Amino acid sequence: MLEEGLKKQEILKILEEKLKNDFTYESGSILGSMCTEPLEFGKEVYLKYISKNLGDPGLFLGTATLEEELISEIGEIFGGQNIIGTFTTGGSEANLIAMRIAKKLRPDIKKPEVVLPISAHISFDKAADLLGIKLRKAKLKGNYELDLSDFESLINKNTCGVVGIAGTTSLGLIDPIEDIGKIIEGKSIFFHIDAAFGGFILPFLKKLNYNIPPWDFNVKSVGSITADPHKMGLGIIPSGGLFIRDESILQKTGFEVPYLAGGNFKHFHIVGTRPGGTIIAFWAILKSLGIKGFKEIVRRCMVNAHFLAERITEIEGIKLATDPIMNVVGITTENGESICNIEEELRKKNWMLGKFTDFNLIRVVMMPHIVREHIIKFIEDLEKIIKKLKIT
Ligand SMILES: Cc1ncc(COP(=O)(O)O)c(C=O)c1O
Repeated sequence: MLEEGLKKQEILKILEEKLKNDFTYESGSILGSMCTEPLEFGKEVYLKYISKNLGDPGLFLGTATLEEELISEIGEIFGGQNIIGTFTTGGSEANLIAMRIAKKLRPDIKKPEVVLPISAHISFDKAADLLGIKLRKAKLKGNYELDLSDFESLINKNTCGVVGIAGTTSLGLIDPIEDIGKIIEGKSIFFHIDAAFGGFILPFLKKLNYNIPPWDFNVKSVGSITADPHKMGLGIIPSGGLFIRDESILQKTGFEVPYLAGGNFKHFHIVGTRPGGTIIAFWAILKSLGIKGFKEIVRRCMVNAHFLAERITEIEGIKLATDPIMNVVGITTENGESICNIEEELRKKNWMLGKFTDFNLIRVVMMPHIVREHIIKFIEDLEKIIKKLKIT
C-alpha cells in the first residue's frame, strides 16, 4: 500500500490500463453470458443508495419495506399472492436457500434427496455439497427435454424436494412444471423452480403472445421460484431473487441474528451484510421500464435470436440443437463431431461463448447488449471457422 494517496485522475488512468483486457458488453464479444449491462437509470439509483445495508434491516426500515413490496409485486407477476422472499447475490444463492428450505421442512428424512433434471445449473451441486443433500438427476430425451418418467422414477421416501427449470442454462428450455406438480401432489415434497434466467423473460413473452406453458405460482404445488434481476431484469450485478409462496416458511426455517444494532429479525439469506442499493435500483428499473419497456426488450432479443437461428440452419456442418424457446440459441454439429474445436476457434476471434460438453453444444444467449451487426460479424467468423475445420 502506498504511503501517500494518489490523485483521482492518476488512479483512474491506472485502472483504465489494468482493466483494458476485460471484455465489454458493447463490443458484442460477450455472447455466452446471462448477464448484461444494467439499465443506466438503475446504475444512477444504485450509486445514490450504495451504502444501504439490509444485513441490518432494522436500521434501514424504508429499504426493508421496499424489498418486501418489490418481492410481493414480482410475486404477483409470477402468479402468486402475498409472496415473500429475499433478494440475493444471484441465482446460486437463491437456489441454495431453496434447497435448505426443502431439507429443513422435512426433519424426519435422515438422508435427504432432491430430484432434478440433469440440465439443472451447477449451483444445485454446490447446494447439495454444502447441505449434505443427495441429488438424483433425471435424464433428458433426445430433444434435450426432460424425461418425465425417469424424473418420476427417482422420487422415493427420502425425497424432500424436486426442482423444475424455467429457462435452462444450456438452451433456455422450460421443464414440464405442471406435470412435475401433478407427480408430487399430496406428497410432502418442496417444489422449487429455477427461473434465474427465465423469470424476467417468460411473463413478457406471454404478453407478447408466445405460447408459454405454466411454470410459476399458477402451478398449485410450486413452493418457490428463483428469478434474477441481474440476468434479463437488467439489474445491478450482482442481484438475484428468491420468491416463496408460503409465509410460514420464514418462521419455520429462518435464521436469526441477535446482536444487530437494528434488532433481531428472521431471514433466509446466507450472507450477512447485504446490499440494499441493488434492490432499490431494481425497484427503480421496474418503475422506469414498466411492462411495456420489458416487453420491448424481450421482443428485440427474440427477433435477434430468431435471426441467428435462421442463419445457423443455412450453414452446412452445424445445426440448431433445438428451436429457441427463449433468447438462447444452441448450436451443435450435424455429424456429431465435437463442438469443442469450433468453440476454441471462436474464442481466438474474441467470441466468448462457453461450451456444454455433455450436450456437445455451444450457445448464444441473446442478451440486450447484442445487436444485429454483432450477429452478422459472428456468423461471418463462424462460417470461416467451419470451412477451416472442414466440418461437414
Ligand atoms: C438456470 C440458472 N440457475 C442459476 C444460475 C446461477 O446464477 P448466478 O450466476 O447468478 O449465481 C444460472 C446462471 O447462469 C442459471 O442459468
